[in-house]
Amino acid sequence: MSLKKTKSELAKIKKAGIIVAKTLKLLKAKIRPGITTKKLDNEAENFIRKSGAIPAFKGYRGYPATICASVNEEVVHGIPGGRILRDGDIISVDVGAELDGFFGDAAITYPVGRISKQAGKLIEVTREALYKAINAARKGNHLSDVSHAVQSHAEKAGFSIVRDFVGHGIGASLHEEPQIPNFGEPGYGLKLEAGMVLAIEPMVNAGTAKVVVLDDNWTAVTRDRKLSAHFEHTICVTNAEAEIFTRVK
Ligand code: CO
Repeated sequence: MSLKKTKSELAKIKKAGIIVAKTLKLLKAKIRPGITTKKLDNEAENFIRKSGAIPAFKGYRGYPATICASVNEEVVHGIPGGRILRDGDIISVDVGAELDGFFGDAAITYPVGRISKQAGKLIEVTREALYKAINAARKGNHLSDVSHAVQSHAEKAGFSIVRDFVGHGIGASLHEEPQIPNFGEPGYGLKLEAGMVLAIEPMVNAGTAKVVVLDDNWTAVTRDRKLSAHFEHTICVTNAEAEIFTRVK
């Protein structure tokens, strides 16, 4: 079975992606010392519903919120709550929306107030790793070229790649084939074709690559409790450069 989407499916995923991007933009403006992650979650849910879409994560395998808000040593799937953001924190905000039966998914790690040089570098390198991966997501390339692009960039900078979570295909479901690891040798796996839609999501750690999941059964944290950053875009492979469906304007 081909993973290529039809034109009308692509148009719908793109619309969902635009709502995700707008939600991330709105949250960026709210993030500052003193705000709780629950408040960010409420703002995101209100905006997504007002846009006629449905929060994609809420209820997914029992996940209880609209966004994932992963602070500092939290890698992914941090559950929003009463935690108050403090000057110097970093926060990965992950947003998914469903519109007309199709999904968009994206994440950005934001600084809270003034952050350390090391935290800034981690964010920058993780964002760059995502864009290198998007650049590798070209017709005729192999899936592991995308994975390799992430790994080589992050490791060259002295950071480590999380191996316990992967990117994914996306469309009529939040998670579709293929799985997209953030590490690997180039030249392997699925050959990319125009019309495939991928959610690429590097998670990069300052220290060990190892993660553990907390007792809430969701929040993944670094085993050494050092910082982690996470970026994600929903993209479409085309005849040229990939199109980013969740680009924040
Ligand atoms: Co995702």
